[in-house]
Amino acid sequence: MRAIVLEQYGGPEVLTMRDIPKPRTGPDEVLIRVHATALNRADLVQRQGRYPPPGKMGAYQVPGLEASGEVEAVGERVTLFQPGDRVMALLAEGGYAEYVAAHERLTMPIPENMSWEEASAIPEVFLTAFDALYNQGEARPGDAVLVHAGASGVGSAAIQLAHEGGMLVIATVGSQLKEEAARAFGADVVVNYRQEPFLPVVQRVTQNRGVDVILDFVGQQYLEANIEALAPDGTLVVIGTLSGSEGRLNLGLVLGRRLRIQGTALRSRPIERKMALVQQFLREAWPLLANGRVKPVIDRVYSLDKVADAHRYMASNQNIGKIVMAVSPATSSV
Ligand SMILES: NC(=O)c1ccc[n+]([C@@H]2O[C@H](COP(=O)([O-])OP(=O)(O)OC[C@H]3O[C@@H](n4cnc5c(N)ncnc54)[C@H](OP(=O)(O)O)[C@@H]3O)[C@@H](O)[C@H]2O)c1
Repeated sequence: MRAIVLEQYGGPEVLTMRDIPKPRTGPDEVLIRVHATALNRADLVQRQGRYPPPGKMGAYQVPGLEASGEVEAVGERVTLFQPGDRVMALLAEGGYAEYVAAHERLTMPIPENMSWEEASAIPEVFLTAFDALYNQGEARPGDAVLVHAGASGVGSAAIQLAHEGGMLVIATVGSQLKEEAARAFGADVVVNYRQEPFLPVVQRVTQNRGVDVILDFVGQQYLEANIEALAPDGTLVVIGTLSGSEGRLNLGLVLGRRLRIQGTALRSRPIERKMALVQQFLREAWPLLANGRVKPVIDRVYSLDKVADAHRYMASNQNIGKIVMAVSPATSSV
């Protein structure tokens, strides 16, 4: 099969199309003939050698944390899917390929009328956002939630889920186009951080109470303001560290306001916990995708052989929502 492989770390040019053996399907796994896969920020970091996939290192890596496609074969213990089913799966690696094997409990049916491209844009960011909001952040209806990088893949999912969950959503973004997008996703208030700092806006909007939950991808640069922006008993969920991972922490505020700082990482989580999350997501959030209340947001679609361009585009921070790669070239728009 054709796949994009990493044989050495470096810039986008190290991503190379190769013919490699199809993955072997374990007894609890389904073999998916991939129609689309989507990029995640972690893929860029993996390519640079700073985020190796879990498990043993082979001669090469196939990146890709999510994919959609058709079940081609099933392992002997599989009961949830059969050949021909349209599915999307959460992967630890391997999505940038014509075939990938996924545990049946990390695999989800694609809602009716949803395209391969849309479905491929769901697993990683919607599971991350859902888990960060409800499990890590323990957000509830009526809470005020601050979502940084509101137009990112994860941000676009988080804003929609929080809005749908009856929360007041404040989002930060880095451009006017992203401002409009975050509003369309359902943010009540959007701050362009290039024009004004977010903390005074949070204080004004919440009448100095602060927000109950922050979903943060920025890390270092925002740490002090994030802690200041939290309401008593609030939670800072650390999902990414885009600006760096060290910072000054006012423990007096953490103590006085009874704050929580909760880190989260999806890919490295034990598989049993990932399976439990996928099953919870299917019960609690999948119906919102099926009835169209929340939607995957696609910025653009590349063909798999244009993977280097897709990585460059993500690195330029221009994307609003997801960058998808179509594995059958006919559907590419770029
Ligand atoms: N922990 C987990 O399990 C997990 C899972 C999935 C994703 N993540 C993390 O979630 C984050 C978003 O991922 P994604 O795939 O959705 O990314 P994405 O679509 O590439 O969006 C990232 C956005 O973050 C903003 N940004 C980048 N550098 C920044 C900086 N230094 N300061 C402020 N904003 C910055 C940019 O938007 P602006 O123009 O608005 O600044 C950029 O477009 C990443 O950090 C990723 O590693 C974590």
